[in-house]
Amino acid sequence: MAQKKSTKKARRIFPKKIPMKKVQRAMAKKAQKAPEEPIVLQTLRGMRDLLPQEQPYWHQVRRSVERAAQEYGFQRIDTPVVEYENLFTRAIGQGTDIVEKEMYAFVTKGGDRVALRPEMTASIARAYIQHGMNVLSKPIKLFSTGPLYRYDRPQEGRYREHWQANFDILGEEDPILDAQVIQLAQRVIQSIGIKNCQFQINSIGTAECRKTYQNLLVSYLESKKQKLCQNCRRRLEINPLRILDCKEDKCAQVSVGAPQTIDHLDPESRVHFKNLLEYLDELDLPYAINPRLVRGLDYYTRTVFEIWSGEEGGKKFSLGGGGRYDRLIEMIGGEPTPAIGFALGLDRLVLEMKKVNARPYRAQKPRVFLAQLGDLAKKKSLRLFSELEKNGILVAESFGRGNLKSQLRHADRMRVAITLIIGQKEALDGTVIVKNMVTGTQETVAKEKIVAIVKKNLKSNIVVLKQ
Ligand code: HAM
Repeated sequence: MAQKKSTKKARRIFPKKIPMKKVQRAMAKKAQKAPEEPIVLQTLRGMRDLLPQEQPYWHQVRRSVERAAQEYGFQRIDTPVVEYENLFTRAIGQGTDIVEKEMYAFVTKGGDRVALRPEMTASIARAYIQHGMNVLSKPIKLFSTGPLYRYDRPQEGRYREHWQANFDILGEEDPILDAQVIQLAQRVIQSIGIKNCQFQINSIGTAECRKTYQNLLVSYLESKKQKLCQNCRRRLEINPLRILDCKEDKCAQVSVGAPQTIDHLDPESRVHFKNLLEYLDELDLPYAINPRLVRGLDYYTRTVFEIWSGEEGGKKFSLGGGGRYDRLIEMIGGEPTPAIGFALGLDRLVLEMKKVNARPYRAQKPRVFLAQLGDLAKKKSLRLFSELEKNGILVAESFGRGNLKSQLRHADRMRVAITLIIGQKEALDGTVIVKNMVTGTQETVAKEKIVAIVKKNLKSNIVVLKQ
């Protein structure tokens, strides 16, 4: 039936007498002739290649994140980069900048409205419901790392594609877990060598107590409307809470006199916040209560926090942020499930590491170089390389070079302890020359014994690494 319909439609477009195949061929030919647009050999604005020289920083950050996740009992979860658009609009909120201005949303060829994820929490909540995690024993601790997409105005530390390490604890409302995720964030940040950062904390209460607070806030802000920036005047209608953390000076001045969320908490939220602060005091974890901290996503309830870079003078970044979202899972169709989580911005952690001269990851350097001369030797060296590598010996080589002198120069530059040489004769004999690069002495060894000899040499004091 559907086919008939489409044939009818096609017939309306193309006269009956022309066979469809002929039309298709003509169209393909025309497409072939159309001048090709030149390829722009550049990443899209706000997106970057993370080149090999950057990777030691990234590796250090990822290692710390993974180690901390394991130590704090988090299990890894990976969710797709693309989800249905309404998951994000409902979870993050219609009036937020992320949903209103920054989503990469599009319609697929199949007609689905989808979006590149601008954050991970909505996907975690979706996965929790989809896979029936509510039957698992609580709390459920999940972590994930991956790229996120926000069509924001790019600048230093703000990209359209950025990376986060995201931690969430689902199924528990005890404030000790709020303290534990903050402790975890601090652990990761300190372990990568960032000593100075500030934890900014606030409680925005439940949706119910926020209603009363919001009315007070709106009437205060209405009286100062003329002093607000254009954007905040609009926010007054759709998301007045966001005005509190507007970065414009004039709005910040207005916010100073605004009613504060912590003065309008319901009794349970007040106790929750008080307990959290007591846990943090017990941990000796320094924090600042920031009554203007409201976060840019609508799903938060009670605890919200951000970690700011501690650099004196220069621009402060939020290195990470999070909070409680006790209603989110219920709001998108699951059963009531309290939850808390946060995400660290990996791009910003790397940026901060560089600013404070923190040490990047240092990969182990090979202490053995494998050189070869002649076609047969080249063939043998590939097998020898694999044998050494399987035995846990890191080996450097420059297989592409034929000239022995230049290979040895390369080995010298790499400051290896041993160079193994296979020439034409050794290839035929089944032997390998073992050259001590410190003393310059060398011996010829049967290839069956080479792994043992190399290991012995590397262990013994004979080989002293040149520095
Ligand atoms: P968020 O504050 O929107 O929270 O993002 C977390 C962190 O990601 C920020 O503190 C910042 O370091 C980094 N970040 C955000 N946008 C950019 C950007 N355009 N370029 C570079 N870095 C950026 C969330 O996304 C929540 N989902 C966190 C959460 C998890 N809440 C509960 N669980």
